[in-house]
Amino acid sequence: MSSTRAGTPRLDGRTAVVTGGTDGIGFETARRLAARGARVVVTGRDPAKGGRAAAALREAATGDGGASFLSADFASQAEVRDLAARVDREVDRLDVFVSNAGAWFADPELTDDGVEATFAVNHLAPFLLVNLLSDRLRETAAEAGEARVVVVSSELHRNARMEFRKLRSVHEVTGRGAYARSKLANVLFTFEAAERLRGTGVTANCLHPGAVLGTSLSREYGGAVRAAVSVLDTLPDSFTSRFAKTVSEGADTPVYLAASPEVEGVTGEYFVDRAVERPSATARDERTRRRLWTVSADLTALSPAEQIPPRPDDDAGTAGGNRSQ
Ligand SMILES: NC(=O)c1ccc[n+]([C@@H]2O[C@H](COP(=O)([O-])OP(=O)(O)OC[C@H]3O[C@@H](n4cnc5c(N)ncnc54)[C@H](OP(=O)(O)O)[C@@H]3O)[C@@H](O)[C@H]2O)c1
Repeated sequence: MSSTRAGTPRLDGRTAVVTGGTDGIGFETARRLAARGARVVVTGRDPAKGGRAAAALREAATGDGGASFLSADFASQAEVRDLAARVDREVDRLDVFVSNAGAWFADPELTDDGVEATFAVNHLAPFLLVNLLSDRLRETAAEAGEARVVVVSSELHRNARMEFRKLRSVHEVTGRGAYARSKLANVLFTFEAAERLRGTGVTANCLHPGAVLGTSLSREYGGAVRAAVSVLDTLPDSFTSRFAKTVSEGADTPVYLAASPEVEGVTGEYFVDRAVERPSATARDERTRRRLWTVSADLTALSPAEQIPPRPDDDAGTAGGNRSQ
C-alpha cells in the first residue's frame, strides 16, 4: 500500500468490501478506508439504511473510487451467493475484504436453510463469500502484490467449543453460546483460509475489536452482558474507556489490518489492539479447523471447484502460528 506519511497509507486505486458496513464498527472501518482514497462497497440488509451509509461514505471519500451499497440477508445462503455474484460484477479488483457483519440472537432460531441462525450469519456467510470471491482476491494479489481478508471475531470465542451437532439445531442452544461458537468459527475459518491461500499473496487475519458500546449488536446482548452494558452506559467516558471502546476505537484494528504496511505478508494470526495474541486452544486446533471447513462446505453445498483448494503439501497444516507469507 502506498504511503504519504507513516501510519496513514493512501489507498487510491484500491477496492475494499466491508460486510455490515452500514453501521457500527463496519461503517467506521469503511469510512476510514474511503477517507484514505479507497473505493468501498458496503453490505447490509436494509436498502434505505445502506443508501444513507453509502452517501455518508461518499462524503468522507477523498479518492475518486466512490462508495456503493449492496444488500443481502446473510441468513439466506441464496442471497449470499447472489451477493458474491453482484460483488464480482461490480468490482474489477478486490484488495481488501472485511468480514464484519455479525448478529446476536437472544433466542436462537433456524434459518430457512435449516442452520442455527447465528452460525449462518456470522460464519457460513463469510465462508461462502471468501470462497466465492477468492479468484478475484487472487487476481488482485497477482497484479498488486497482495490482497487482504480481515475477519472480525471476538474474545468471546474463548468461551466456546465447536459442538458440531448443534449447528442444525436450537435444542440446548443459548444466544450467548451460539454467538461465542460463531466467533470461534471465525478464527478457525481464518486460519484454514490463510493456510489454503499461502503463497498466493492473499493474507487472512482475524481480530477482536474490543467491547464496543453503543452499536446495535451491543444493545442486543442478553442477560448479564446486557446488564453490564447498560451499567457501563451510565458511567463517565473516563471510567468506561478502561473497560470498553467507542465505535471509533473498535474500528482501529480492522483498519490497521486492512491498510497498514506493517502487516503486509502477515497471515493466519489473531489480533487484539493491533498486536498478535494467542487465541484459545480450540481455535488453534488443526483437526477442528479442517473439520469446520468440511462441515461448512457441506452445509452450504459449496462444490470442491468453488472452494479455495487445499495446498498440495497440506499434510503439514501449520496455520495459527507466527508466520509471514
Ligand atoms: N460491539 C461489540 O462489542 C463487539 C465485540 C466483539 C466483536 N464484535 C463483532 O464486530 C462486528 C460488528 O459488530 P457491531 O457491534 O459493529 O454491530 P452492528 O452495529 O450491529 O452492525 C452490524 C452490521 O451487520 C449487518 N448485519 C446484521 N445482521 C445481518 C444479516 N442477517 N445479514 C446481513 N447483514 C447483517 C448490519 O446491517 P443491517 O442493519 O442493514 O442488517 C450492520 O451493518 C460483528 O462481527 C461482531 O460480532 C462486536
